[in-house]
Amino acid sequence: MQLTDSVGRNINYLRLSVTDRCNMRCFYCMPKEGVASKGHEAILSYEELQLIAETAVGMGIEKIRITGGEPLVRAGIVDFLARLSAIPGLRHLALTTNGLLLADMATELYQAGVQRLNVSLDSLNPETFSKITRGGDLTRVLDGLDAAEKAGFPPPKINCVIMRGVNDAEIMSFAEMTRLRGSSIRFIEYMPVVKDEGWQRYCISGEEILQRIAASYPLEQVDKGPFAGPSRDYRIPGAVGSIGIITAVSGHFCSECNRIRVTSTGQAKGCLFSDEKTDLVPFLRPSDRDKLAEVLRGIVSGKPERHGISCNSYEHKNFLMAQIGG
Ligand code: 5AD
Ligand code: SF4
Repeated sequence: MQLTDSVGRNINYLRLSVTDRCNMRCFYCMPKEGVASKGHEAILSYEELQLIAETAVGMGIEKIRITGGEPLVRAGIVDFLARLSAIPGLRHLALTTNGLLLADMATELYQAGVQRLNVSLDSLNPETFSKITRGGDLTRVLDGLDAAEKAGFPPPKINCVIMRGVNDAEIMSFAEMTRLRGSSIRFIEYMPVVKDEGWQRYCISGEEILQRIAASYPLEQVDKGPFAGPSRDYRIPGAVGSIGIITAVSGHFCSECNRIRVTSTGQAKGCLFSDEKTDLVPFLRPSDRDKLAEVLRGIVSGKPERHGISCNSYEHKNFLMAQIGG
């Protein structure tokens, strides 16, 4: 079964956030003081999240990515992932993490049936990393990457938000990781979701990132797999890993968008940048599978064709990435 939206996009990918809490405080994602976590009863139980996942898979979703906040801080996450991975028809279970707890958890995550990890890593320099994450420990994340490979995972994909004057000097070091470590890197354009005086100075386009790499290395285009998101992928000839560019702000990847999102409080969204959301809670408490499927189908068909943001004109939205899961 295929799920198709009103402009013909095949929607096969659900991003499911399991918590809005995080053990880091990246300055582009959260205010310094963090976000007041929603009360325990506002956060969906694992049973409710599983019902959403099963319903979505029954409708044609083939890939689920678990996000947060930081998903690994939620108690019971490994058992939940094991139950998700057993859903018939789910072809791909992935997890996005900041990597802080990965060194301890990689083996159990692998055994639970998680197939792929994305690790957020914005700097390879301990001081810069600590500045961006407001105190995060780079060593633990690097240990986590090693542990993931030892546990049997393919090299985790690395998500790297590039900000001018903060970590743009490291673009080449990250690009070289695709040759030296076999890692795949995805450079993500900084999105001004946290109100920050002078945010425009951080903006750097995916095009510029690519040009800077291309000044030192030839780049060949890489074909995308069926679950690939909206990144454009390249490879330095001979490198094992690829280099992806996610032009969330400058680019027009909306035409290739294949996903819907559900937050940890049960708000479903067709587009990250849209204010429109649908509360799934009434169909979860008590649970009504048929109605839930109907509402999810409505979110797919009402998915906006494109967003209208840019680095010149950004209207700050009323959400934080940690609440939506990126
Ligand atoms: N701009 C770009 N990417 C962001 N992420 C979180 N906040 C932002 C932002 N303001 C990314 C994280 C993580 C993913 C889930 O979302 O770096 O890799
Ligand atoms: Fe946490 Fe990820 Fe947000 Fe950083 S970007 S504060 S690691 S949720």
